[in-house]
Amino acid sequence: MPTVKNTEAAWLRAVVETAVDGVILIDSRGRVLLFNPACEKLFQYRADEVIGSNVKMLMPGHYRDEHDRYVDNFNRTGERKIIGVGREVVGQRKDGSTFPMDLSVGEAKQEDGSIFVGIIHDLTERERTERALRESAARLRAVVDTAVDGVILIDAHGNVLMFNPACEKLFHYTAGEVIGKNVKVLMPASYRDEHDGYIKNYRETGHRKIIGIGREVMGQRKDGTTFPMDLSVGETKHEGEFIFAGIIHDLTDRKRTEEQLAQAQKMEMVGQLSGGIAHDFNNLLTVIVGNAEFLGDQLKSREDLRRLAEDIGRAGERGAELTQRLLAFSRRQTLRPIAIDCNELIGSVHKLLIRTLREDIVINSVFEPELHPVYADPGQLESAILNLSLNAQDAMTSGGRLSITTANASLDDQYQSLHPEVRPGDYVLIAITDNGEGMPKPVLDKVFEPFFTTKEVGKGSGLGLSMVYGFIKQSNGHVSIYSEPGLGTTVRMYLPALMSKALEEPAPRRAKHADLPSGREAVLVVEDDPFVRSHAIRSLESLGYRVTAAVDGNDALQKLGTDIHIDVLFTDIVMPGGFNGWELAARARQTRPELRVLLTSGYALETLITHKRLRDHDAILTKPYRKVELARRLREVLMINPQQ
Ligand SMILES: Nc1ncnc2c1ncn2[C@@H]1O[C@H](COP(=O)(O)OP(=O)(O)OP(=O)(O)O)[C@@H](O)[C@H]1O
Ligand SMILES: [Mg+2]
Repeated sequence: MPTVKNTEAAWLRAVVETAVDGVILIDSRGRVLLFNPACEKLFQYRADEVIGSNVKMLMPGHYRDEHDRYVDNFNRTGERKIIGVGREVVGQRKDGSTFPMDLSVGEAKQEDGSIFVGIIHDLTERERTERALRESAARLRAVVDTAVDGVILIDAHGNVLMFNPACEKLFHYTAGEVIGKNVKVLMPASYRDEHDGYIKNYRETGHRKIIGIGREVMGQRKDGTTFPMDLSVGETKHEGEFIFAGIIHDLTDRKRTEEQLAQAQKMEMVGQLSGGIAHDFNNLLTVIVGNAEFLGDQLKSREDLRRLAEDIGRAGERGAELTQRLLAFSRRQTLRPIAIDCNELIGSVHKLLIRTLREDIVINSVFEPELHPVYADPGQLESAILNLSLNAQDAMTSGGRLSITTANASLDDQYQSLHPEVRPGDYVLIAITDNGEGMPKPVLDKVFEPFFTTKEVGKGSGLGLSMVYGFIKQSNGHVSIYSEPGLGTTVRMYLPALMSKALEEPAPRRAKHADLPSGREAVLVVEDDPFVRSHAIRSLESLGYRVTAAVDGNDALQKLGTDIHIDVLFTDIVMPGGFNGWELAARARQTRPELRVLLTSGYALETLITHKRLRDHDAILTKPYRKVELARRLREVLMINPQQ
C-alpha cells in the first residue's frame, strides 16, 4: 500500500518530469542534485552528465565568478539577490552556445543546510520577437523621419502624438511645440470648428469624411500663413482607443504650376481672339486709310472736303496702330529679327528716354559687360523698353528712379518648374525697375491682358504690356513681372541668347519720305476682299502700273496660265480657295521663274515663319499699308533679280 508521503512524492516527481520549464536542485555548495528533462532539452546535457557537478558548468564564463562571489556572500551574510526574486540571466549549453533565460530560485531549508530550487524559463523566443519588434519599429521610425511628406499621429481627442521632421518643415513648428496639443493649431480658423464637428460626428455615427479617402485642405503655419495640402487619414486602434495617422502632402508648388498653366492658356485664348479681330479690322482699315488718301489727292481744289478726308485718314491710322498692337499681343506681327547687342540698343534708348520722360525721373542704366547678343526685332525691342519706361513714369507720379539693367541669365529646370511655359537655356535678361507705387496682386494678375488698364479713360489703352508680352513670346523669350505695393515694380524680359558671336548685318533702314516711286510694269493683284482689292488696284493704277486682278489663288493661276504679260505678283497670304499666298508664289514661279513677288498680310503667321517659309527674298508688306509704302516696296521688289 503506498503511503500518503509516497503518493505526494510521485506527484511531485510527475510535476518535475513533465514541466515545460527547467527544474534544477542544487545544494548549498552549488552541486547539482536534480536536473529534469526540460533542463536536459535546454542545456543539451543528460542529467547524469550534470548531477554531482557544480552548477557553474551551465553558465557562461563571466557569470561563474559572479556566482562564486554570490554564494560566498550568501553563506556568510544570508543576503539574497536572486532567491525569491528571479531575474534574467544567460545559460550555456553543452556546445558552448548561450541563451537568455529567466531564473527564479527558491530556498528550502533541510536539516543539513539549505538546498535551492531553480526554475528556468527559456527566453529565446521572447527575445527574438522583441528584437523583431524593435527592428520593425526602428525601420518604421526611419521611414517616418526621412519621409518627404508630413506624418502626424493624433488620438481620438485630436491631441498630437507624433509630428515628423517633414511636418516641422511644413508647419514651422518643432515637434516639441505641437505634441500634446490639439491638432487644430495646424488649421486655419475656418477649418477648426468643422474639425470638432467632424471628430464628434465620426465617434457617434462612424460616418467618414476624410478617413481612408483624403482630400485637399488648408494648413496653417506657426506664423499664421496658410498653404494648400493634400491630407489622407488612416485610422487604427491602440489599446482600445482610436488613433489617426495623417499623411500630408504639400500642394503649394502644384497649385502654383496649375495657376500658371491656366493663366498661359487664358492668354493664348485671348491672343487668338484679338488676333482674329485685328486681322479683319486691318482689312477694313486698309480700305479706309487708302480711300481717304485717294479722296484727299482728288480734292486738291476743295480745301474743306480735303480736311475731312485727312481726318478720316488719321483716324484710320490710329485704328491701325491699335490693331498693330493687338497683333503684337497675339504674336502675329511680322518680326524682322537680327542679332542685337542689347547694351548698345539700350544705350540709344537711354538717350531717347532722357528727352522723353519727365525731369523728376532719374534714369540709370547698368550693363553686363560681356553680354551675349540676342536674336530679335530691334524696333520692337525698343518700343517694348519705351512702353515699360512710360509705365514706370506713370507709377512714379512725384518722381523716382528708373533703372534698366542687362545680364546674362541661364534659366534652368528649376525655373521651369515654377514657370512651366519657359524653355530652359541661355537668355539675356533686360530688367526695368521703378520705385513707384507698385501694384496689388489683383492688378498684377491681369496686367498682360489686352485692354486692362487702371488709368483714366483716354490715358491708357491697356495694350502696352500686352504688346511687350506678345513680342517677347513671339521672340521665344519669357517675361515676368514682380511688384510690391508702395515699393515699386520690376519687369524682366528674357530673350534667347545667341551663343555664337557672329553678329549679323544691321536691319534695313526705313525709307524716308520722298517723291513716290512709280512704274509702268504689269502687276497681278490677288486679294479675296473686294474692298481691299479695289483699293490696291486704284493705288497701283494711280502710280502708273498696269493692273490685272484675281480673287483667289485659283483665279490667279488661271490668269498666269494665259499669255498676258506680268512682271510682279502682289498677293495676300491668307486666302480662301485651298492655297495661300506662299503656295501661289511657288506654283507661279514654276512656269514663270522671272516673276517677282510681293506678299501682303494682316499678319504673318508665326507658324509659317517658324517653318522657314519666310525666305530672305520674300518681300512682305504689312496691312494696312499706305500708298507710299506700297509704292516703295513694289519698287524694291522690281529692282531685285528673282534668279538670286
Ligand atoms: N511699372 C508699373 N507700376 C505700377 N503699375 C503698373 C506698372 N506697369 C503697369 N502697371 C499697371 O498695369 C496696367 C496695364 O499696363 P499697360 O502698359 O498694359 O497699359 P496702360 O499703361 O494702362 O496703357 P497703355 O500702355 O496702353 O497706354 C496699368 O494700367 C497699371 O495699372
Ligand atoms: Mg502702358
